[in-house]
This record gives sequence, structure tokens and C-alpha cells, in this order.
Amino acid sequence: MDREIRHIPVLLQPLLEVVRPRAGMVIIDCTVGLGGHSSEFLKRVSPGGRLIGIDFDPGNLELARAKLKVTGARFDLFHNNFAALPTVMTEAGVERADAIVADLGVASPLQRPGAIGRAPADSRAA
Ligand SMILES: C[S@@+](CC[C@H](N)C(=O)[O-])C[C@H]1O[C@@H](n2cnc3c(N)ncnc32)[C@H](O)[C@@H]1O
Repeated sequence: MDREIRHIPVLLQPLLEVVRPRAGMVIIDCTVGLGGHSSEFLKRVSPGGRLIGIDFDPGNLELARAKLKVTGARFDLFHNNFAALPTVMTEAGVERADAIVADLGVASPLQRPGAIGRAPADSRAA
């Protein structure tokens, strides 16, 4: 049975107020998850901006990719631990970012029956 996997980012508005994403910005989302925060960043950094996303759950990255593509803006996703941020930045070809964010909460899909087998949350800092 197919179940829709959704995650509703509850702190989106405060996050947007702090980061203030706007055209031309480079934003790194260390915990892309299902792309809720990243898609809102991406909508706001165009034109000229870029989103770099990291997550160690490949299933989440796949779902996020579909969501981010809809925006038509520039993004690159990396399957990695955010502890490897310097490596990811080198691979992405960026030396600096305007904002680096990490959502260390537990994603709602991980709390649902059947979530076993997905990558567990591991929010250890580098
Ligand atoms: C709360 S969810 C993020 C939800 C996301 N902000 C959104 O709007 O959809 C946390 C995500 O962080 C990822 N994660 C946890 N620890 C990580 C780590 N050390 N490196 C990379 N990703 C990690 C999990 O796989 C999960 O997808």
C-alpha cells in the first residue's frame, strides 16, 4: 500500500525571518529532509541564488529532489552527513554561503509505523 510521506515544517516562518532568503543568496540546508524548508528558500533565492542541500537519508533526498525541481531554481543535493560540510562545499564549488541551516528536529515520517528501516535521525554536530 502506498502511503504519502509528508513532513510539515512547523518553524518555517521564524526560520524565514531569521535567514531572510533573497535573490542571489547561497543557502546550505544541512538537513534537507523532504525539502520543506529548502523549497521555500529556493523560491526566494532566484534569480542568481543557489541552494545546496545535504541529508544522509537517500529516500528523503529523492522525495526532496522532486519537490525542489518544481521551483525551477538552481539546487544541488548531496547524500552525506552534514559533518562533512567542508567536503560538500568543495564538491559543490562554493567557498562561502550566506546562510547555513540545520533542522535538528525529528521528522514526522520517522515517527510513523513503517518508518523502521529509514535512516534514524543523527543530529550529532561535526
Ligand atoms: C526534521 S528532518 C528535516 C526536515 C526538513 N527541514 C524539511 O523541511 O522537510 C531532519 C533530517 O535530517 C537528516 N539528518 C539527521 N542527522 C543528519 C546528519 N548528521 N547529516 C545529514 N542529515 C541528517 C534526517 O535524515 C532527516 O531527513
